[in-house]
Amino acid sequence: MWGGVPARNLDFTGRRALLARLEQQLRTKSVVAVLPGPRRGMGGVGKSQIASEYLYRHGAEYDVVWWIPAEQPAQVPASVIELGDALGLKVGREVTAASRVLEALWAGSPYSNWLLVFDNAESLAAVRDYLPRWGTGKALVTSRNADWEQLAGTVSVGPFTRAESIQLLRKRNRRLSIEDADTGDTLAGPDLCSGLMFTDFAPEHDCGPFDLSGVPHGRRCVVVLKWSYTGRALLPSGTTKGPEFTW
Ligand SMILES: Nc1ncnc2c1ncn2[C@@H]1O[C@H](COP(=O)(O)OP(=O)(O)O)[C@@H](O)[C@H]1O
Ligand SMILES: [Mg+2]
Repeated sequence: MWGGVPARNLDFTGRRALLARLEQQLRTKSVVAVLPGPRRGMGGVGKSQIASEYLYRHGAEYDVVWWIPAEQPAQVPASVIELGDALGLKVGREVTAASRVLEALWAGSPYSNWLLVFDNAESLAAVRDYLPRWGTGKALVTSRNADWEQLAGTVSVGPFTRAESIQLLRKRNRRLSIEDADTGDTLAGPDLCSGLMFTDFAPEHDCGPFDLSGVPHGRRCVVVLKWSYTGRALLPSGTTKGPEFTW
């Protein structure tokens, strides 16, 4: 039984150590929270993505996986009641219905090996009553709220490493241009590149050959790579330059 999980991000990149830590925490703890690292309060750093990628890699190890959007407190009981319906629990629609679903799950009925994901659970109060109290089921929480540290095993998520950034940039659209090294004037491009590789030393690209025919000889040029990316905290947009050369 599998419900509500966001579509897989086919560009999912890196995070090997964090996924391994999440797996290990879920093996030993009943509640695990994915939280922002030292720069507190950062949104868009990839917490929800790590939770959902974990499910695509390990979801088959559970009998039930249920993704509960938890940013609005009222969504939580509504989603738990839907899970009860999907499990055929016939708990009705009254205010007590959600707690009857939970009590069945805690008692292992109809399954004991389940994982509930509370995504963007900024308020502990809204979710606390839905965490496993007994039995073998698990809860995975994503939140910006560091107070979860008191209640849960934690996985702390920071921005990408440089290596992860480069890996992701290789999958995204980037623009490559040739600029005058002194004035910054664009001499050729920008061309949209796919499959570009940027190393610390030099960019290699598959935009096709640049047309420098209109550019007077004797200029000092530089290859400039610009990218834009909207997952701000994870990887800001930016510019980087290759080595200068004379044309
Ligand atoms: N590991 C990753 N690989 C590729 N893209 C990612 C990854 N993590 C996050 N992103 C991108 O950043 C966006 C924000 O990530 P998200 O998990 O929603 O952040 P958070 O839950 O921390 O606010 C995602 O929609 C996705 O486009
Ligand atoms: Mg999130």
